[in-house]
Amino acid sequence: MAEAILQVRDLVKHYPLTQGILFKKQVGAVRAVDGVDFDLRQGETLGIVGESGCGKSTVAKMLVNLERPTSGTITYKGDDITKLSPRALRAVRRNIQMVFQDPYTSLNPRMTVGDIIGEPYEIHPEVAPKGDRRRKVQDLLDVVGLNPEYINRYPHQFSGGQRQRIGIARGLALQPEIIVADEPVSALDVSVQAQVVNLLERLQDEFRLSYVFIAHDLSIVRHISDRVGVMYLGRIVEVGTDAEIYDHPTHPYTQALLSAVPVPDPGAREHRERIILAGDVPSPANIPSGCRFRTRCWKAQERCALEVPLLAVPAAFRLTDSPARHDSACHFAEEKRVVPPEEEGTAPDRPLHPEQAELPGQAELPEDTGLPEDTGLAGQTDLPGQAELPEQPPSPEQSPLRKGPAPGEGPVPGKGPAPGDGSAPDGSAPGEGTVRKEPTLPEQPPSPEQPPPADGPTGPAGS
Ligand SMILES: Nc1ncnc2c1ncn2[C@@H]1O[C@H](COP(=O)(O)OP(=O)(O)O)[C@@H](O)[C@H]1O
Ligand code: SF4
Ligand SMILES: [Mg+2]
Repeated sequence: MAEAILQVRDLVKHYPLTQGILFKKQVGAVRAVDGVDFDLRQGETLGIVGESGCGKSTVAKMLVNLERPTSGTITYKGDDITKLSPRALRAVRRNIQMVFQDPYTSLNPRMTVGDIIGEPYEIHPEVAPKGDRRRKVQDLLDVVGLNPEYINRYPHQFSGGQRQRIGIARGLALQPEIIVADEPVSALDVSVQAQVVNLLERLQDEFRLSYVFIAHDLSIVRHISDRVGVMYLGRIVEVGTDAEIYDHPTHPYTQALLSAVPVPDPGAREHRERIILAGDVPSPANIPSGCRFRTRCWKAQERCALEVPLLAVPAAFRLTDSPARHDSACHFAEEKRVVPPEEEGTAPDRPLHPEQAELPGQAELPEDTGLPEDTGLAGQTDLPGQAELPEQPPSPEQSPLRKGPAPGEGPVPGKGPAPGDGSAPDGSAPGEGTVRKEPTLPEQPPSPEQPPPADGPTGPAGS
């Protein structure tokens, strides 16, 4: 088993809740992350999945040091990065980079693609001396499957999928070892999601990257992950290999989430049991005692209100060699297969969209394939004024990218403010609350954050 490159122990982030205007008094705390443990092994992809508001982005931000933990440790190659001096931290940060959720807001519209991707070199000039930067950025564009000639273009001249490639190129600029990808495909059309996921997989092999891949869509997480951690209200409640989690889940919350995953085969769909969790997700400012899932759990008993279940192999499976023998924070963990067994040819790692199964790796595609992803502004010149245009081109999805140098590539306008952190404003989605098990299920997913139907467009995720 590969060794852990990153160890997270009892990671906590509480945001104080205050009252009063002049004399602010703390009246409570939003327990956004409330004791998270996991290991990330060298070269693996750890998927983290959970409903909106469960703390995924907050974990991501702490991993890349955009947020300081309230307590807990994040150990990278033996050093707790939460306690490093600013100088030592700078070196570590180079090795842990983030790809943000929303390619529409995470790229500064006033900066050229070259400046966006090359921006990290301003902070880490040792990686690319000034004279070498343009070539490095063009290499990165090439690596993510974009035409290096587009270095002087602006984000609005690219489609959503292409913008996310730019975000990925920026994440790769400093040659990191770890990439934390926070819902990197949630804001993209379903038709483009698989292409970006395939690109990430290819880059992982090429650069021996380790990924923390965050999503609320269980099917995407399964596709890319070696192991999966399921998060609920600030904690990981179950973690295991993708087969353990998808085929042998033991935590009731995982089972409920899985029961909402779209099943393509209508026959299998009829036979599966749908578990509907009704009511609201409790507020992270008011977490239930004992097991935090108990207000929605159909199996809850008295013990659940009194004792916090630890994330460990449940006693019932400790002495077995069953795939149910993996960590699960439930006093009454039981194996329950929710998703029907995969039929032949629909193995867990199947591409997300059958029509894309035959496509070679994303970057091998020529840029003007005509795929929805690969659109641009044929014939458009890079007029300086374009930087001021709204981000969305009038009809970006209609014309294929023009190959070759962009005409009129003019001087690079001055840089605007640094790109924001890219996370879309997050808000807890209204969830479900009181627990109700309904074997006969409406097609409505239990929560707005559940995976979209395989053939429908995905709206921007709010998580
Ligand atoms: N800066 C902040 N101040 C107060 N509460 C916050 C802040 N950032 C996030 N939260 C709250 O923390 C919880 C977890 O948020 P987040 O990590 O964004 O969840 P997710 O990414 O899983 O949707 C949410 O209830 C959110 O409202
Ligand atoms: S500990 Fe109790 S409430 Fe929590 S998931 Fe298990 S059965 Fe449900
Ligand atoms: Mg989020």
